[in-house]
Formats: sequence, structure tokens, C-alpha cells
Amino acid sequence: MNASAPELPAPIGLLAELTHRCQLRCPYCSNPLELDKRSGELDTATWRRVLSEAAALGVLHVHLSGGEPTIRTDIVEIIAHCARTGLYSNLITSGVGGALEKLNALADAGLDHVQLSFQAVDKANAERIGGFVNAQAQKMAFAGRVTALGLPLTLNAVIHRGNIDEVDRFIDLAVALGARRLEVAHTQYYGWASMNRAALMPTKADVDRSIQIVETARKALEGRLLIDLVVPDYYATYPKACVGGWGRRLINVTPSGRVLPCHAAETIQGLEFWSVRDRTLADIWTSSPAFMAYRGTDWMLEPCRSCDRKERDWGGCRCQALALTGDASATDPVCVYSPYHARIKTLAAAEASVNAKSTYVYRSFSLGDRPASAGSPAGDVS
Ligand code: SF4
Ligand code: FES
Repeated sequence: MNASAPELPAPIGLLAELTHRCQLRCPYCSNPLELDKRSGELDTATWRRVLSEAAALGVLHVHLSGGEPTIRTDIVEIIAHCARTGLYSNLITSGVGGALEKLNALADAGLDHVQLSFQAVDKANAERIGGFVNAQAQKMAFAGRVTALGLPLTLNAVIHRGNIDEVDRFIDLAVALGARRLEVAHTQYYGWASMNRAALMPTKADVDRSIQIVETARKALEGRLLIDLVVPDYYATYPKACVGGWGRRLINVTPSGRVLPCHAAETIQGLEFWSVRDRTLADIWTSSPAFMAYRGTDWMLEPCRSCDRKERDWGGCRCQALALTGDASATDPVCVYSPYHARIKTLAAAEASVNAKSTYVYRSFSLGDRPASAGSPAGDVS
């Protein structure tokens, strides 16, 4: 273990990516360019074992994600197993397809929380962004059922140039739907989102305005709606402590069973990822080369090495450092102390100034309907 991390804490959260299959085609999708195929997904028994091992390791929350997790035919059994093992389950869903039909059974199985995504409040805009016809009506019906069942609801709004003018409407929607929490999360440019960065990047002025709207609403809605704000990295001064620090709080299991310290870790060439097919979660958490690579602070270079914030943000995001500097050990360029900081500010401003109507590159799956304007298929994971 790293000398600067003498006591390895238990992981708090498990991100269980049950499948990469999805009905939507959001241009800001942070899943990798190369998706796991259905034929390679973990089976029910393996997920049950992984969840039991996670509970034994100290994990408290399981985020059931994807893709769209309700596509899995065993989603009820997986949630029932979370309940049996004492894990708090959070279903991260788009609410479309067959999600509504499964919701009562999921609640009966012990589901604890639902996080529902909205691509926009304006129906046409939402369906253009998500690339899925009739999504909005399905999401509204789904949200209504969630609250009718008494389940706590979080609305998730990923913000970018195509919907940043709707932040106030997202807040109104969350209140109207009875959500307890709203995530206003500016796009992070990982995976597929990096292909669309120039079409998604908002201007600094629009970002500042959106932050102001959230801050005003937070005061007005205190006690009624909790609003979490994820500010856009490219306009920040210091980086976020990505995943709470590498190998400190989160375990990410991909649909085919590779265990990652963060969602985008596979973009870092040369890291060795162990699989739950071969090893226990505890073994992977304590000893996997990928988890050891950037755990603690010994791996840090200057300026992080001698910085007094290094145990606050853990040097920022390794994947972003790699994407923007070519070196995953570098200081995240979001940081004002990074020699690359001025360059990414310039890049963000240049991309945000592109005046054309956003033209997205959409993912392609074999599921669901696509509007005629949705763009060309770019892959298939069926
Ligand atoms: Fe964080 Fe490193 Fe920047 Fe210091 S130099 S604030 S540790 S990213
Ligand atoms: Fe990988 Fe931030 S997404 S460390």
C-alpha cells in the first residue's frame, strides 16, 4: 500500500453498470466508445455474488446503472438481492422503454431510490438531444409512478449548450414532479461525450448565468428541493476530487465484469484491470494494479506533490489529465496551477463560440425508435 495512504478505507459506493444497452443516444454519454456487448454481460448469479461481496467489504450504496439497467430481464432479482444484503439501491434510469412496466415489481423488491434523467424540459429539444421519439411522455409517466409509490426521486439534468437555457425550467419541473433532489450536472467530456465536445460546450457567460439561477433557487426552495450543482470543469479554478479520490471511495464494475477505479479508467493505456469473474471484490479493491496506480499521493508529480490541497482534490481527474495533457500522472489541467490551464480555457472558449446549431454525433443501438434528425448510426451493441 502507498505510504501516504496507510489505512485503506472501505469503499462507500459501487457503480454497477448492468448493461451498456440503452434506448437513448445522448451525445453527452460518458460510456466508452467501445461498448460491452450483451453476450459478454455478467449473469445474475455473478451479480448476486458481487453484491454480497460489496456488502461484506463495507459498501453502503449501489448505483444500478448502464446504459439502461431496466433492460436487464433480471433487474428485479438484482434489486431484491441488494435489499437482502442491506445495500441501499439507487436505480439510474431514463424511464423509457419497459421501465414503467417494471417499476411496481422493483419497488416491491425493495428499491430504495430512483434517479431519473431528463434531457431537456422542452419536449422537442429533449427528444432531439436523446435521439428518441416520445421519450418525454414516458418519463413524465414514470416520474409520476415513482412518487405515487412513495419512492424518493432525484431528477438528473446533464447541462450543455443545447439545454443550458432551460435550467430554470428543470428546477420548476423537479418541484412539479415532487422530486426531493435535482442534479444540475454540467457535461463531463468522457467517452462518447468527447466526440461531441465542440457541439456541447457552453459559453462562460451561460455557465455563470446557470450557476446564478441555481443559487437563487437553492435559497428559495430550501427544505423542499435539494439542488446539487456540478460545475463544468473547463471553467473551474480547481479540479474536483474525481470519484472522491482514486481508489478511495468508489468501485465501478463494467457490464462484462472488469473492475475500474472510475468510469473512464480504461482510457488510460497500460493499467491492468482485474475482473470479478476471476477474483473477489475485496482482493481487487486492496491489490488490483489499477486501483494501486493512483491511490494516495505518492504517485503525484509537481505541482501537486507539494500542494496543500493534494488531500482535498487528490490531484483532480486522472482521465482528464490524460485526455488533455497525454499524461495520466499530470496535474488535472482544470487546476489553475497546471501549466496547461490557460490552454484549456482557450479551448473551451473557442469551442463554445462555434455559432452553428449543435450537430451531434449519435450512438447507435438496435433498440428503440430514432427521430429522422437523429444522425447516422455509429455502432451496434445488440
Ligand atoms: Fe489540486 Fe494538484 Fe492543483 Fe494542488 S496542484 S490544487 S493538488 S490539482
Ligand atoms: Fe477517471 Fe476522473 S474520470 S479519474
